[in-house]
Amino acid sequence: MLANTQGIENVHPHAAQDAKPVLSLNGISKSFPGVKALSEVALDLFPGQVTALVGENGAGKSTIVKVLTGIYQPDEGQISINGKPLSFPTAQDAGEAGVTAIHQETVLFDDLSVAENIFIGHAPKTRFGLIDRKEMVGKAQELLDRIGAQIDPGVLLKDLGIANKHLVAIARALSIDAQIVIMDEPTASLSHKEIEETYELVERLKAEGKAILFISHKFDEIFRIADRYTVFRDGQMVGAGKITEVSEPELVKMMVGRSVDQVYPRREADPGEEVLEVVGYCHPTEFEDIGFTLRKGEILGFYGLVGAGRSEVMQALFGVTKPSKGAIRIDDQIAVIRTPNEAISHGIVYVPEDRGKQGAIKGLPIFQNVSLPSLKTTSKNGFLRLAEEFKLARDYTQRLDLRAAALDQDIGELSGGNQQKVVIAKWLATQPRVIILDEPTKGIDIGSKAAVHEFMAELAAEGLAVIMVSSEIPEILGMSDRVIVMREGRIAAEFERDDLTPEQLVRTAAGLSEVTS
Ligand SMILES: Nc1ncnc2c1ncn2[C@@H]1O[C@H](COP(=O)(O)OP(=O)(O)OP(=O)(O)O)[C@@H](O)[C@H]1O
Ligand SMILES: [Mg+2]
Repeated sequence: MLANTQGIENVHPHAAQDAKPVLSLNGISKSFPGVKALSEVALDLFPGQVTALVGENGAGKSTIVKVLTGIYQPDEGQISINGKPLSFPTAQDAGEAGVTAIHQETVLFDDLSVAENIFIGHAPKTRFGLIDRKEMVGKAQELLDRIGAQIDPGVLLKDLGIANKHLVAIARALSIDAQIVIMDEPTASLSHKEIEETYELVERLKAEGKAILFISHKFDEIFRIADRYTVFRDGQMVGAGKITEVSEPELVKMMVGRSVDQVYPRREADPGEEVLEVVGYCHPTEFEDIGFTLRKGEILGFYGLVGAGRSEVMQALFGVTKPSKGAIRIDDQIAVIRTPNEAISHGIVYVPEDRGKQGAIKGLPIFQNVSLPSLKTTSKNGFLRLAEEFKLARDYTQRLDLRAAALDQDIGELSGGNQQKVVIAKWLATQPRVIILDEPTKGIDIGSKAAVHEFMAELAAEGLAVIMVSSEIPEILGMSDRVIVMREGRIAAEFERDDLTPEQLVRTAAGLSEVTS
């Protein structure tokens, strides 16, 4: 079964003998200048089964997905479907062979409608060969209904939030009748309810006999939905087997090469004076009557379902969108923030959730991505000081556990998780007084997650005030001094960390309990 057994630590000998794989990869290698992203990897997918692909940021997971979908050509190795060797010179070939993928960075078109995005390239045609719009919209509606998405197929994609865009990507993947469905971190930008719906969808696809490759950094979901696992480390396949025959610590150890305890940093809650007060903040459509305070050295968690308005509030605080009413006080002074530049000059920065679009500047090297907003401190008399820029970038990226060949590498060549670390480093490097982190560890692997949390705790101890929007309950409970729960654009409750349970969070976010405050 496994052609390359070198370096494999934990392959169960009987793992793959009970069924025939519908898809097999053998000896696949792929290099980029300076990096061997994949080195003779093997992977099998079975009908009606979910195979979880796990590995650290940069391990090669998205690269194998791109090989499987005809986006990258492997340097060597063999793809076979139902025992038949195949190659995918183009994405269309992969589609025709029955492989479809929901990518980590989804390729959708903002100015097209939802239905057009779903059917682009394979729209139903009339008998005159024209696109049959009525049929297309009807079919799009059917697909959206099937995955429980409440989205109008006629609206433009750009009018949707990130979670709904993701559902459109899923609908698109399902519109191609595929036997192999690949999902690259499908739940990374979703929260509780949508995640549950995604799991139901996976179950349905399984029942239809599809082979599913599921990439995730979340161990709870891997153990919940996967039947099998495959582990990549540094571009090599280091283990594979049935999920029932492996434990979480074993899996983490294969992934990282060492044991990782998921302990959150111990923090002494010792907040200093108030730095920020938000009063009666309103937005015509997104949120209403938002008020809270934030103190130096404090980590304030924001929990809620997708669409609760958390990111929208943060974007208004950062001057991206305009509130219709309300005020911000910074150090007892009313502050007016109309643009991100004004926010930055008040010492407020925002690390967005959608870091691909709003954060990383592709085509620029890593170090410049980090130093860009800090140029005031790294330039002297108008001259950029390259050495300073490098030093800044090195300090901050090291503390976030960045894995990159060199700091002058183009950020676009980094893996998804590593790009996110660069964007976080960039905003921290401006040495703000208030940092707003929107889903700070989304897409970041289990080993680096601890580094991010550690760094956050250290900065808070040094007096930085942190607002952390997160949909991960352990992270909210593990990091926050105080937690605000938002529901439908309003603050539903505020809790001190000590008297907070996961159930309370979920119930409050879903509106299942009495509002307390
Ligand atoms: N277009 C490219 N040019 C150069 N290097 C690349 C390119 N694409 C990926 N790489 C490199 O290949 C390696 C594997 O990246 P890949 O995106 O497959 O990682 P991943 O396992 O998906 O990580 P993550 O969990 O962060 O998404 C990384 O070292 C990355 O920097
Ligand atoms: Mg990836």
